[in-house]
Amino acid sequence: MLCLVGASATVALLMFALPPHDETLLQWAWLHGAISASMAWATTLPRWWVPILLLFAPAALLALTLEIPPLVWLLAALLPWLVFRGALRDRVPLFLSDQPAIDRLLELVTSEHPVSVVDLGCGTGGLLQALRRARPIARLRGVENAPLTWLIARWRLRDAAVDVAYGSIWDEPLSHHDVVYAYLSPAAMPRLWAKACQEMRPGSLLVSNSFEVPGVPAQHILTLSGTGMATALHVWQMSEDGTASAAHAG
Ligand SMILES: C[S@@+](CC[C@H](N)C(=O)[O-])C[C@H]1O[C@@H](n2cnc3c(N)ncnc32)[C@H](O)[C@@H]1O
Repeated sequence: MLCLVGASATVALLMFALPPHDETLLQWAWLHGAISASMAWATTLPRWWVPILLLFAPAALLALTLEIPPLVWLLAALLPWLVFRGALRDRVPLFLSDQPAIDRLLELVTSEHPVSVVDLGCGTGGLLQALRRARPIARLRGVENAPLTWLIARWRLRDAAVDVAYGSIWDEPLSHHDVVYAYLSPAAMPRLWAKACQEMRPGSLLVSNSFEVPGVPAQHILTLSGTGMATALHVWQMSEDGTASAAHAG
């Protein structure tokens, strides 16, 4: 955003300050692209931002010539927000646990007594639905903050005794869960770990699909056999002093 604003201000200044020539709007747009891309190049932004910023203004100008109704643009902006809200604030997009991950999680959720499991960022509720079928006595809860995804999860689990809450995972108390499952992103892991250490009770399990906690090796790594993106479940068992103990995970 700063690159775009910076380039817009520079181009606007040049447009007013320079004596009128016969530059076209498209030429100004390319200048805008070149400035914002150079700004991205000069900063620590990941390199893939450079082509995006280079093409942004020319693409926007081209889009204007298509005379698409403004409502379509509004919907195009709204829809991703309804599904990918978590990617904006927490850098956690939507991708779903696959069957190998569910099967390995089931190894940690006994069918002998009612284990309490929370899926932090439950997406469209597929994991909770699978747990409900395999472990009917488990107490299940999901938390999700993307409106459309949450609605889908609610609808899918409408007949099941599964609590699907609309809200942020950072407001979810973790103290009364036996298993806390999270499939988030590397960016969220340090904060999740701090929260887990503060709130999770001794003996409970933190299970992270795919993502490690920097500097805190998991006690157990349950590898996944599938061909999907997820490679392993990382498992920590919380100890008395609010950190991970070297105890077995199951
Ligand atoms: C990678 S998906 C995992 C979905 C599901 N847990 C599964 O394993 O199939 C992560 C989910 O977390 C949600 N999310 C991200 N940040 C969140 C937050 N602060 N509060 C609640 N949900 C969040 C995203 O919207 C997304 O649906």
